[in-house]
Amino acid sequence: MISWKTRLPPALRNPLRRFLVRVMETSNLRAGNDFSWLLRESYWRADLQALDEACARGSDEAAWRPLIERLPLEIFLLLLFTRQTEWPNIARRFPSLPAAGLQETYTSKVNQGHLATLAWFVPAVVQRYQAGGRRIEEAMALDIGCGWGRFLRAFWRYIPGSQLYGMDISPDILKSCDECGVPGRRLLPGGLATPEMRRRFSLIYAYSVFTHLAEATHLELLARLREVVTDDGLVALTIRPRAFWDLLQVQWPQRAATWAELDKTHQSSGYGFTGHAGPTTYGEASIDRSYIERSWKDWQVEGFGFVPGEAYQIVVWLRPR
Ligand SMILES: C[S@@+](CC[C@H](N)C(=O)[O-])C[C@H]1O[C@@H](n2cnc3c(N)ncnc32)[C@H](O)[C@@H]1O
Repeated sequence: MISWKTRLPPALRNPLRRFLVRVMETSNLRAGNDFSWLLRESYWRADLQALDEACARGSDEAAWRPLIERLPLEIFLLLLFTRQTEWPNIARRFPSLPAAGLQETYTSKVNQGHLATLAWFVPAVVQRYQAGGRRIEEAMALDIGCGWGRFLRAFWRYIPGSQLYGMDISPDILKSCDECGVPGRRLLPGGLATPEMRRRFSLIYAYSVFTHLAEATHLELLARLREVVTDDGLVALTIRPRAFWDLLQVQWPQRAATWAELDKTHQSSGYGFTGHAGPTTYGEASIDRSYIERSWKDWQVEGFGFVPGEAYQIVVWLRPR
């Protein structure tokens, strides 16, 4: 068969080839598969081979754990957030990804688009958790508003599935976690009220959840978290800063007056909120430091940070008082 290569003069072949590779990479980038080639590289090939063979032998997570822990976090994330075929037994045993549309609806990104967020937030949590001398692999962890489970997947690099819990208000999204084989157990909010949950969790995080809650819902959820966290537990929440309303001015100028009003409310009361569809409990919320100091009486703020690449996710590190 005559290909485009054979018909072209040699001087044009390489530039054209480079161009075509670039086009392919760009379309892969859009599809979220741009870094898949890394899974074939020599640096971690032996470790991936060993994990793939262990996955071929069976589905016992305990047998894989030492092999999972040998992988750099980025490579572990790449395995989980790529529809990869390079390591078929890993692909068969590890959690699969939900449809791109569902990912986008919940988290505005798809597949490898999540890597930067996860590769910053997860190590930041692990480092802070271990700073007190505790071991992350012994943590009992609760993901609040876990959605389709991107953080449950990522924390599984460090924490066995039997110690991971994901809570969400939506039974449908928890079902999608089950269907994809996400590690950990699932809970609806009511599940946290049972006696065995009291003081159970040494690590609780809620990413992009308090960024969306109406004030009463937020206070109720915080009170529930206080009941289930251990006395020396670590809690990490993300919230939106006041400048979020400036961002919406640019992104959604048709509602400029609403954003200006919410900015004013943020300044006067420390809490700005607008429901997504009328007076709901879920929408967009901004929270000021003064509000936290005034209202989160059961919590000691250990510090603040932000997620590089997601500057409108301010991280609040908390300990129970
Ligand atoms: C923007 S998504 C973030 C999902 C996940 N934390 C992540 O970053 O991948 C917000 C999630 O919070 C859940 N949620 C909303 N209100 C909640 C509540 N009151 N209690 C628990 N989960 C809630 C939603 O169902 C949704 O899954």
